[in-house]
Amino acid sequence: MKTIINRKEIDLNVADLERNLLDWLRESLDLTGAKNGCGIGVCGACTILVEYEPKRACLLKVKDIMNKSILTIEGLTKEDGSLHPLQQAFVDAGAIQCGFCTPAMVLTAHSFLLQTHLPTREQARKAIKGNLCRCTGYQQIIDAIISASVHYQH
Ligand code: FES
Ligand code: FES
Repeated sequence: MKTIINRKEIDLNVADLERNLLDWLRESLDLTGAKNGCGIGVCGACTILVEYEPKRACLLKVKDIMNKSILTIEGLTKEDGSLHPLQQAFVDAGAIQCGFCTPAMVLTAHSFLLQTHLPTREQARKAIKGNLCRCTGYQQIIDAIISASVHYQH
């Protein structure tokens, strides 16, 4: 039983299969970018990409990612530690305040930009509607997504 997390193959332990995926990522793999904002599928702060689709880790079990490829925010950063252009766009646009929503917001936007060539602001707004941010007012987040879109080739 295996999964691929951030391009690395991981052997799954049978004892972990029924564990909550978000808890497992944070506690056993030390991947703490995904946050627990509500634990019931409402806020989006726990979003990770499963086969490049945004999923709420708080609603999944470890067995749900068996034989699948997972991306967390830690895997979006380049191997040399430098930021992905989308992460840099969030920094440049001032799209981060407390940062609690940011890893999930960035991953949701990443999935969207992989599928959508040069989106409109309205498309970007719709793409992140399931990710709640209590701080920024969303405008700078949309700015960041639009400005990063030129880095995605289609
Ligand atoms: S912690 Fe998963 S949706 Fe809020
Ligand atoms: S930056 Fe604080 S919740 Fe979004």
